[in-house]
Amino acid sequence: MQRLEVLSRQLTAAQASEDRAPLLATRAEYDAMYRRSVEDPEGFWGEMASGYHWQEKFPARGHLQYNTDVRRGPVSVQFFRGGTTNISYNCLDRWVAAGRGDQTCFIWEGNEESDRRTVTYRQLLEEVSRLANWMQSVGVKKGDAVTIYLPMVVELPAAMLACARIGAVHSVVFGGFSADAVAQRILDCKGKVVLTATGVMRGAKPVLLKPIVDEAVALAAKQGFNVSSVLCLEVPGALPASRTPWNPARDVWWGDAIPKMSPVCPPVWLAAEDRSFLLYTSGSTGKPKGVVHTVGGYMIGAGVTCRYLFDMRPGDIFMNTADCGWITGHTYLAYGPLLCGVSVVMLGGVPTYPDGGRLWRMAERYKARTFYTAPTLLRSLLQLGDAWPRQSDLSSLRILGSVGEPINEHAWHWYHEVVGDSRCPIVDTWWQTETGSAMMAPLPAPWMNAKPGSAGLPFFGVCPVILDPATGNEIVSTAAEGVLALRGVWPSMARTLHGDHERFESVYFAPYKGYYFTGDGCRRDADGHYWITGRVDDVINVSGHRIGTAEVESALTEHADCAEAAVIGVEHGIKGQAIYAFVTLRGHDHQTEAMRKGLMDHVRKVIGPFAVPEVIHWAPALPKTRSGKIMRRVLRKIATGEEKELGDVSTLAEPGVVEMLIKLRGK
Ligand code: WTA
Repeated sequence: MQRLEVLSRQLTAAQASEDRAPLLATRAEYDAMYRRSVEDPEGFWGEMASGYHWQEKFPARGHLQYNTDVRRGPVSVQFFRGGTTNISYNCLDRWVAAGRGDQTCFIWEGNEESDRRTVTYRQLLEEVSRLANWMQSVGVKKGDAVTIYLPMVVELPAAMLACARIGAVHSVVFGGFSADAVAQRILDCKGKVVLTATGVMRGAKPVLLKPIVDEAVALAAKQGFNVSSVLCLEVPGALPASRTPWNPARDVWWGDAIPKMSPVCPPVWLAAEDRSFLLYTSGSTGKPKGVVHTVGGYMIGAGVTCRYLFDMRPGDIFMNTADCGWITGHTYLAYGPLLCGVSVVMLGGVPTYPDGGRLWRMAERYKARTFYTAPTLLRSLLQLGDAWPRQSDLSSLRILGSVGEPINEHAWHWYHEVVGDSRCPIVDTWWQTETGSAMMAPLPAPWMNAKPGSAGLPFFGVCPVILDPATGNEIVSTAAEGVLALRGVWPSMARTLHGDHERFESVYFAPYKGYYFTGDGCRRDADGHYWITGRVDDVINVSGHRIGTAEVESALTEHADCAEAAVIGVEHGIKGQAIYAFVTLRGHDHQTEAMRKGLMDHVRKVIGPFAVPEVIHWAPALPKTRSGKIMRRVLRKIATGEEKELGDVSTLAEPGVVEMLIKLRGK
């Protein structure tokens, strides 16, 4: 407790010497705004949205309509009904019109520290318009899906904004996904156009992208779906253009086509509830879910959270280590910061390449005010020693952000004390692909008393509730622990899962009627601060990447020699969680290293390198209940060597299985 008091005093001192007054200077100010936001969401969000450009204004009253109670009928949420807008206009044209056209929009560094590029708001608007014109020239129309499979280059957010400009629905697929996974996503959303690159260097390792797209397109064609155009950017380093596989009937070089297009493309005005993008994420069951976000609500959620949680003001320098392949890169690298008119620092390479000082040198070089990253990266950086951050002048930093997984105390203190010199509040943002923008966080305000590891307080309009997992009843006492659900609606919430509204309702709204179920466990302390305790469903969080155990299991069982697989998450010092797989082979005599490698390669092929199990534990049989359900609780204990604490195993069909698995541990 003493330590907390010291920390909060430091924060207060830091804030007092701040060069600008905090946005929410007192707790009372936050409380009043929060109260207003939950008592009158329509009025509150209407006012928040009025700071943005609407081509047609939505009415002050009657723009919000929703039902999130499955007992009352279909789940549906509509914000800003009657309004039309365009997020690319709000991100770009609005700033150019305000005389900020020559301000830097993106500051990019590539794999090598000498690869540098800065792009102004005006230049980005032109690039986005050229791309949008090209997409229109190959037939992309409002509502069409476009797959983006690009490395972290400025062209990636530009491609997203270009889609947004013409009302095309982008589906960004993280560059670490395999051809099978890309094909699955192309097929699901029927994206006729793919934007990609030759490949990219990641540290000393070349990663090829175009050959993966070719394979994915061929796989989709086998299923009867033809991609009509592939636009390919030549990124120097990994794969020369001359050696890039090419289909002239379908493939177009970015560098040939785009500069020829007009740099002017009027935005298509879209209804607030039109789709803005799809982003596939993992859930408890096999198939990835195409989370659908809309134009108006997403824009307001992204912009307003950037404003209040990161205190973004035009001209600020904001550095984010996220990849646009995940939601954090969408909301807090591409869209939100540009909605606030800031300059975004992005890294196209590996954060620890060429050494552990790379990110800190970048923060110094560009005088980053805010730095946003994930605990997994902090843990790998802190291992490299304090000397790296200490070698750089990090005095420009004012706010530090964390996202993606619970931050452990050790990493929090290192971030706070060594990186932030005990001056900068840590804004630990809890949210999800489905929520679109941050839902909870300690506000960067002097009164906040942020506690290491806590996701702080709810953002405006967010009503977290803690439910008893057994009864589904809300635990109303301030101090509470259970599963986390959200009551009511907020502008940036997902509206559906692409092509499967029923699954949307059953995953998020059916488990606890009347609430949005997050899938996370959570504790609320006596001060009303929230602590996320991790997923309560079958989703693993590996290095901040969400992976469904069922997805990895289905990849493993697709292997000809695998009869059955059970996947669990185990604690991992750097990654947060690691994937641990129990595998039953067809015939027990192939338990070899070659087989293990074959299974791992297979997962790499079906999903991607980041989903490869850390451990494969041979399991001639799996512990099951008499009704045939795999007892994962028992597997978790076996994996971690806690077999003395197996708990109640009276429902085990074959008790001998446990002994056998313990013997095979580490074999
Ligand atoms: C976890 C990432 C603790 C959580 C934005 C959630 C977190 C899942 C935090 C969503 C945080 C995200 N503290 N846990 N600050 N942020 N999570 O969809 O389990 O990739 O449900 O969105 O990450 O992951 P997703």
